[in-house]
Amino acid sequence: MRDALHPSSFILFGTIMANYAAITGWGMAVPERVLTNADLARMIDTSDEWITTRTGIRERRVVSPGERTSTLATEAGRRALAQAGLAPSAIDLIILSTCTPDRPFPATSCTVQANLGIPNAAAFDLVAACSGFIYGLSVATSMIRSSAARNILFIAADIFTHYINWNDRNTCVLFGDGAGAVVLQPSDEPYGQLSCVLGASGKDEDLMAVDAGGTRLPATPELLEQGRQYVYMQGREIFKLAVRGMGDSSLQVIAEAGLTTADIALVVPHQANLRIIEATAKRVNMPMERVFVNLDRYGNTSAATIPIALVEAVEQGRLKDGDCVLLTAFGGGLTWASAVVRWGHP
Ligand code: ACO
Repeated sequence: MRDALHPSSFILFGTIMANYAAITGWGMAVPERVLTNADLARMIDTSDEWITTRTGIRERRVVSPGERTSTLATEAGRRALAQAGLAPSAIDLIILSTCTPDRPFPATSCTVQANLGIPNAAAFDLVAACSGFIYGLSVATSMIRSSAARNILFIAADIFTHYINWNDRNTCVLFGDGAGAVVLQPSDEPYGQLSCVLGASGKDEDLMAVDAGGTRLPATPELLEQGRQYVYMQGREIFKLAVRGMGDSSLQVIAEAGLTTADIALVVPHQANLRIIEATAKRVNMPMERVFVNLDRYGNTSAATIPIALVEAVEQGRLKDGDCVLLTAFGGGLTWASAVVRWGHP
């Protein structure tokens, strides 16, 4: 699926429609508890050296008892609203990208709506695993462009450690918990998402999955005993598909925005593995100096990696108003997504 925007506002059925959805607020939240590679080496047969050289991850944040996806999502959302200077009552839609909802039903976005005191805003959850931020950004942008919503709070939050078997060294070293949020508002100037490519390959869904707990395999004592509630994955296969999916869709969105690699001030990729990021940057011909990396401190927080990285990039002065930033991600599904975003707002 592709989406390249046109240069001017237009009018449909008497409604003035904005062509762009600028990001006017941003915020992040991570749990306080830090789990280092040294901590993991005391729990399982691994080492700081193996994890650092194979992934680039040094530590990750992990929730404490009582902390839920809605806890992190609410805090990130609160900060994004404050940054945008918007009252909760101004929000008319909340979208939450997550594959680790508080409960299978109802949507965790409704819990966030109640927590933030946002009256009557529509709220729904979206599942696209690690591609969830770009998928959600595309949906939110489309809702604003069609005038279906005006002020959107879009949050990506995951407690991916919920799916972790702490005895499985193939997966437990990779993931952490976190949330990031943005506020989107209509703009006539070209800010926000300029181009976007979304894709999926359902035939590869079994390369990475959690089997038990859905309608296909309801959780039974036997399945729980077998550990089927935990994530499994074929790391090497995913690695190769990630580099191809992120690299190819990145080149597409840059071209569709009418830009070249030289116009991209910063790449904010999904933070799964430093080697995947480096291989993707090479495929796109982007020097690593223009690629933002913070996975050493958070690991893979699933849908939350990109908004957390965006917030830190702004705080570190690496992303300024008017800069074009390339977002690119790959995740379970399998899904992939890239977008070019003009940061800031008029
Ligand atoms: N500590 C020590 N040794 C380990 C560990 C560990 N934590 N994990 C695996 N090993 C061992 C393996 O058992 C294997 O040993 P063997 O050769 O004796 O069999 C050896 O290390 C090499 O294993 P590989 O799988 O070949 O290691 P690789 O270099 O491919 O790195 C990794 C593995 C890090 C998982 C990598 O393949 C990767 O990052 N893949 C992408 C996974 C990913 O990002 N998934 C998330 C997708 S996003 C989402 O939707 C949430």
